Amino acid sequence: MKTTISQVAKHVGEEVTIGAWLANKRSSGKIAFLQLRDGTGFIQGVVVKAEVEEAVFQAAKNITQETSLYVTGTVAEDTRSPFGYELQVKGLEVIHESTDFPITPKEHGTEFLMDHRHLWLRSKKQHAVMKIRNEIIRSTYQFFNDHDYVKIDPPILTGSSAEGTTELFHTKYFDEEAYLSQSGQLYMEAAAMAFGKVFSFGPTFRAEKSKTRRHLIEFWMIEPEMAFVEHEESLEIQEQYVSFIAQSVLENCKLELDILERDTDKLAKIQAPFPRITYDEAIDLLKEKGFDDIEWGEDFGAPHETAIAESFDKPVFITHYPAEIKAFYMKPDPNRPDVVLCADLIAPEGYGEVIGGSQRIDDLALMEQRYQEHNLTGDAYQWYLELRKYGSVPHSGFGLGLERTVAWFAGVEHVRETIPFPRLLNRLYP
Ligand code: 4AD
Ligand code: MG
Repeated sequence: MKTTISQVAKHVGEEVTIGAWLANKRSSGKIAFLQLRDGTGFIQGVVVKAEVEEAVFQAAKNITQETSLYVTGTVAEDTRSPFGYELQVKGLEVIHESTDFPITPKEHGTEFLMDHRHLWLRSKKQHAVMKIRNEIIRSTYQFFNDHDYVKIDPPILTGSSAEGTTELFHTKYFDEEAYLSQSGQLYMEAAAMAFGKVFSFGPTFRAEKSKTRRHLIEFWMIEPEMAFVEHEESLEIQEQYVSFIAQSVLENCKLELDILERDTDKLAKIQAPFPRITYDEAIDLLKEKGFDDIEWGEDFGAPHETAIAESFDKPVFITHYPAEIKAFYMKPDPNRPDVVLCADLIAPEGYGEVIGGSQRIDDLALMEQRYQEHNLTGDAYQWYLELRKYGSVPHSGFGLGLERTVAWFAGVEHVRETIPFPRLLNRLYP
């Protein structure tokens, strides 16, 4: 019977056939151990010379890394294996022989691996990272569906910028100028007025000349937007959501976390509520920690965020940033209009800002004033103003960066390993 490695538990004692690739192998004169992978998992195939036809044993001994094959054998429980099962091989049929696979079990440099990303994805560690990414996506849909959100897909080609003009990718749209989406937020606000609670999940483009462990040119963002939800309520939704996806990864990716040697005690601590500090308090904290130069009104960089995060053992919200360093749409604090009702969620262990969010301006006159201050002229923005004209309501939303979240949960240093084909400052290939 044909099956996959993920299904072998249902076939203990039975003979099965699996389509697989050879990841690695060890052999002696009498026995060969084949590390097999089929995408759904890894399993060891054991070929005993005395128990198979000579041709099968010779094939097993000569088989090369990444050769594709059909393996037939009996499934047995194996408590020593991290996967719990092994295959007692009876027959092998080579589908396609692979010669000189470039990524051997020895160490390779990152640039070499990145140049071979199309093949590197097959490795055990990269496989584990992508499975964790998949679990975050799966549990994201579960969380928002369970809470009555509607998934809405904003456009990727846009006529206006959402987060400022310096980081836009320009493209021709027939005779007009268009941009690749920096954020679906403005459209999600329109959707929230139609559906109440909405979320999006899609690619985002930032022409940022940043070459750091946290920056991609193309990344994926989850953007919920909620009508009748104010700043504080939005923070509660955010901490519930992040706790839910963290616990889902802990529960459903045990093997992957083990392969990545992730300290799971750190993930177990990601449980709501999360601490909150204001921007003002963060400035004081930074001064205490020796950042003497930081002035009120400056934005935080990676070293600041890391220093702040070190004071907490959970992710921390930094709220109420100065209006002048945040986006035009954020609602000023009614008690103190020089700061806005916003929060960045900073992950521990140096992973940095994983969420940016805010309550949005819902007053037409104030939004028109912001338009003037930010020079947002032209037709491209008029529709967004109309959301404040016809039954405007308080509303809030946020964006979670998927790759930074994967890096954090998987314990991977750099975001380039958290997306299948990263787009970086110096890399558009493969
Ligand atoms: O803080 P940002 O720019 O917020 C927005 O775009 C809002 N419009 C979201 C909203 O309220 N709907 O981006 C949100 C998150 C960041 O916290 C970060 O996790 C991620 O997106 N992010 C990046 N991830 C990888 N590479 C980059 N260059 C990123 N820029 C932002
Ligand atoms: Mg931000």
